[in-house]
Formats: sequence, structure tokens, C-alpha cells
Amino acid sequence: MCGIVGYNGLLDAKEILLKGLEKLEYRGYDSAGIALRNEAGVTIFKEKGRIADLRKAVDEDADATIGIGHTRWATHGVPNRRNAHPHQSASSRFTLVHNGVIENYHLLQKAYLKGIQMQSDTDTEVLVQLIELFVKEEGLSTVEAFRKTLSLVHGSYALALLDSEDTETIFVAKNKSPLLIGVGQDFNVVTSDAMAMLQVTNQFIELHDKEIVIVHRNHVEISKLDGRIVERAPYTAELDMGDIEKGPYPHYMLKEMDEQPGVVRKIIQAYEVNGELAIDEAILQALNAADRLYIIAAGTSANAGLIGKQYFEKIARIPVEVHISSEFGYNMPLLSEKPLFIFISQSGETADSRQVLVKVKEMGYPALTITNVAGSTLSRESDYTLLLHAGPEIAVASTKAYVAQLAVLAVAAYATAKARGVALDFDLKQELAIAATAIDAIVDAKETMEQIAEDYLKVARNAFFIGRGLDFYVSLEGALKLKEISYIQAEGFAGGELKHGTIALIEEGTPVFALVTQQEVALNIRGNVKEVVARGANACLIASAGLEEEGDCLIIPHVHPLLTPLVSVVPLQFISYYAALHRRCDVDKPRNLAKSVTVE
Ligand code: F6R
Repeated sequence: MCGIVGYNGLLDAKEILLKGLEKLEYRGYDSAGIALRNEAGVTIFKEKGRIADLRKAVDEDADATIGIGHTRWATHGVPNRRNAHPHQSASSRFTLVHNGVIENYHLLQKAYLKGIQMQSDTDTEVLVQLIELFVKEEGLSTVEAFRKTLSLVHGSYALALLDSEDTETIFVAKNKSPLLIGVGQDFNVVTSDAMAMLQVTNQFIELHDKEIVIVHRNHVEISKLDGRIVERAPYTAELDMGDIEKGPYPHYMLKEMDEQPGVVRKIIQAYEVNGELAIDEAILQALNAADRLYIIAAGTSANAGLIGKQYFEKIARIPVEVHISSEFGYNMPLLSEKPLFIFISQSGETADSRQVLVKVKEMGYPALTITNVAGSTLSRESDYTLLLHAGPEIAVASTKAYVAQLAVLAVAAYATAKARGVALDFDLKQELAIAATAIDAIVDAKETMEQIAEDYLKVARNAFFIGRGLDFYVSLEGALKLKEISYIQAEGFAGGELKHGTIALIEEGTPVFALVTQQEVALNIRGNVKEVVARGANACLIASAGLEEEGDCLIIPHVHPLLTPLVSVVPLQFISYYAALHRRCDVDKPRNLAKSVTVE
């Protein structure tokens, strides 16, 4: 989703901003722009499409040492050059980039800006016009006008503002949307994600909601909206440029799928204490004190949550409900007496999940976040955090984070079971190590999945994924992966449910992927496959070793029955990847999607 960068220093701002925007591409966007400030004033370059297009449009000789940049994921107004950021006030004095949604922009426009001819269809433009209005009509300073404008706003924002009459400052503010200040010798930067500015610094200052920052070249001043000054020390981002480069891979998604065995091993290491898998004592107590867990997440993370429910119920014997975050906050079920909320989020920034967290905290309930990003908003605002240790996930389609979520959920359920004295007949550490080796075997056999994608999906218009028990939940993730990157309409179903309606869609050649990893329902799912084959489906069965039958499409290594999702999802990821490649889709940046979904 939208990304922001800013630079105030001594070097060529243009190059730093463009490189920063390239690093933010993974978040998803449809247009981009930069504003460069030099003695002559502010110059804006913006384009619909990719950063590569913006690069071509930027005047090579445009030199400036202050600037701001933006990638836009359209919310208000179609993706085009006119709606691309930066936006300017009527006199062009003020230039603004914005990430988030100004919910009351229409009301503000009606109340204050009737006489102003808007240049775009965006909510953002209202802010920059208001700032100018308050400076002109009320004689406020830029920072006073900035504060006044923000005090009127309902919604989410990360903002960077230039004033053409101030050659030294970038004005910054944040509410609900992520934003960091990067600090260095003789420069300071602004960024939505540390990754974008690792090129110049690894020292970052977190911003909290409703804070304003005056960013000079040599210092930054943070204050609350009401003017109170805030002191906050920078932290060191534990990120390596190598983690965020593609290296020899053609796509991040392929790199990240290949990394999955290593991620599972890293999780074993990270959670091992005295030879046993363990989690923080305070988290254990919170899990133990709860009479019901409420897992809240979106997309792939919600699919992982469904398997997490099975882990907590089957291993730790705690009842669990799983809810998608966009619904939960506005349609809350009757809660138990002592709930613990578990937020699962790769990015830790998903706005839908965050709005639930805010409500839950207002209600006084404890919250645990399982995330890949230390210091992310959900992590900061929860009582407890468990990290995924998956390393940066850059491809929009989540792969290694999903596998990491399953592994960490298993560790948490297992540690809780031990603490509660539940008798366990397996050693999770050993079983996760076996699962990592099983994923290795699948990664090594990717050509088989490439062939399956070619055979089953090259010309498909739609596809079904079916399974029973845990396999059903993995089917949901398989379908999500396929649809988001190949644009083939795909649905995941419980094998037994198809005949209650959806089987009507099966026609000659419809691809149906069926998972067979759960012994107790293996015959039932095979029966469901027969039903669809009898109606013309082109079925591909993916079975665990020991449950295979002649004619199955792919045999995956046997692992502990509860851990099969970590393994069975991997061929589905690869099949989706190759299906998208065969169809010449932009695998890492699928259309309309954003990596970090920071608007509700
Ligand atoms: C799908 C995908 C999305 C995310 C969802 C939640 O591949 O990546 O469905 O899972 O947007 O994002 P996080 O996990 O960052 O909260």
C-alpha cells in the first residue's frame, strides 16, 4: 500500500528517493511521484505505473538535497497521473504526500474549501489546501497550520510536507499509518519502512500516533499534536541489505519459497530453551489464564489462524475462535469471560487488524501479536509479541510467513500444553525438524510443480482446491495463492461441501487439486475426488507418503499429522507461482494488491 520516503541532507535527494521508492514497490502501488526542493523552488515529477516510468520522467539534472516521494495505491480517485502524489496547494506553496485515508475529507472540503478548485479526486489534496488556507487566512505558521489541519482530521495518515518558503524542513506527521524517521550524520530521512532507507542508515526512530516531526538536516523535533515535546532514542534496524535483495532469483516469491526450510529451522533455534521449545513465561501465563482464545487476522494470516485453532484445541485443549479482522471489529460476537486475543499479521501493520486491537485494548482485554516485524504497530500496541523470524517477506503473496505462522502457532500451543500438564505423545522440536527436511524435498522438486502448473492450469479459467480437516484449511490458502498471482478464479472447499452446491460449477476439464494428508479422512476425500472426476474434473491428488494411491499427481513426505499443513502448502505455492509465470503475470506485484494493507 502507499509508501512514503523523504530526504533532508547534503546528497542528491533524487537518487535516494527513487531508490527508496524502488524498495517500497513490494507494498503494491499504481502510481508514484517525487518532489524536489532546491533554491529555485519545488519541482514535482509523477507518473502512473511503475517507478521505472517515474525514473524516465525525472529530469536527470534536477538536483536537490531535500525531497519527498510517494508510491500510491489508489483509494480515492482512479490511478492516474492527476491523482498521483505529491499534491500541491492552490498557490503551489505547499507540497504533500500522504498514506492513509482521510475519512471526513468531504466534510472538511465543504466546510472550509468551497472556493478552491481541486486539482485531483483525492482525499489528500484537502489537507494541503487546508494548510495553505490556515496560513493565508489566519496568519498561522506552517507548523501551526499543519497542527490545526490535523486536529480536524478523522482517519489515518502518514504525511510529509514541503513548504516552498522554507528551504530547510520536511514536516511530518503520523496517525495509524506506519512511518519512521531515519537519522544519520548530516542528514535525516522519512520512510514508511526501514528497508527503503537502509541504503543510507540503520538508525530509526519510531513514531507514535498523533505525533508531528520537524525534520531538519541536523536534527529532528518530535511533538504531540498538542505541542508537547517528545524525546525518543533511535533503534538499530536488524536488517541486512542481503535480506532484501533478490540475489540470483528472478522473483522474490521464488526466493521466499526456497527459504522456507531455513525459516522453520530458525524458528526451532529461536524458541529453543535448554533443548526444549518454549515461549516467554508471561505469554504462557496469559494463554493459561484465558478461557477462550480469539484469533484475529486477514487473508493468508487468517488461513494460518484456522490451523492455529486446531493446534491450540488439539494440543493445548483451549477453545479458540478465528475471525477475520475486517468483520470482527464491527460485528463482535459474544465474548467469553476471560478472552485472550491473538493477532496474526506478517507485516504487523494491517489496518483491519489494528482497528480490532484498538477496540480490544479499550475493552481492557489482553492481546498477543504474532508477527514478522519487530516494532510494528500491532506488536507495539499488544501486551505480548511472538516473532516469526522469517526474514523480510517482499513478494506480495505471502509464503514463508504463512509457514512461519504455522510453526510459531504450533510452538505456542505445544508450550502451553506442557505448562498445563497436558500429556503429549510427540516432541515438537523433532517433528518440526522433520517437516523442514520434508519442505527441502519439495523445494528440490520444483520442476514437478512447474509441470503440474503447465498440465492443469495453463488454460484454466477457474480451479478448485479441496481437502478435509487440516487439508481443508490448506486448500483455502492454496486457492488464495493461485487467484492472487495468476488471476485464475480459485476456491478452497471442504471436500464434502462441494456436493451441496458448488459441484454445479465442475465441467469438462475443471482443475481440482485435492490434498490427502489426513489418514482418518483419506478415503472420504478420495470419494469426493471421484464425484468431481465423474463430472469431468481434471483432478490432481497430492498425497502424503503412506496415503498415496496409483495415479496420484504428487507424493509429499510423511510428517506428523498436525504439521502436514507446513508441507502440503508448499507444492500449492509453487504450482501457483508457475501458473502465474505461464500466464506472464507479474508474480511479485500482482495487480490491485498491496503487501502492507494500511487502510481499512
Ligand atoms: C496473501 C497475503 C494477504 C495478507 C493479508 C494480511 O498472500 O499476503 O492476504 O495475508 O493482507 O496481511 P498481514 O499478515 O501483514 O496482516
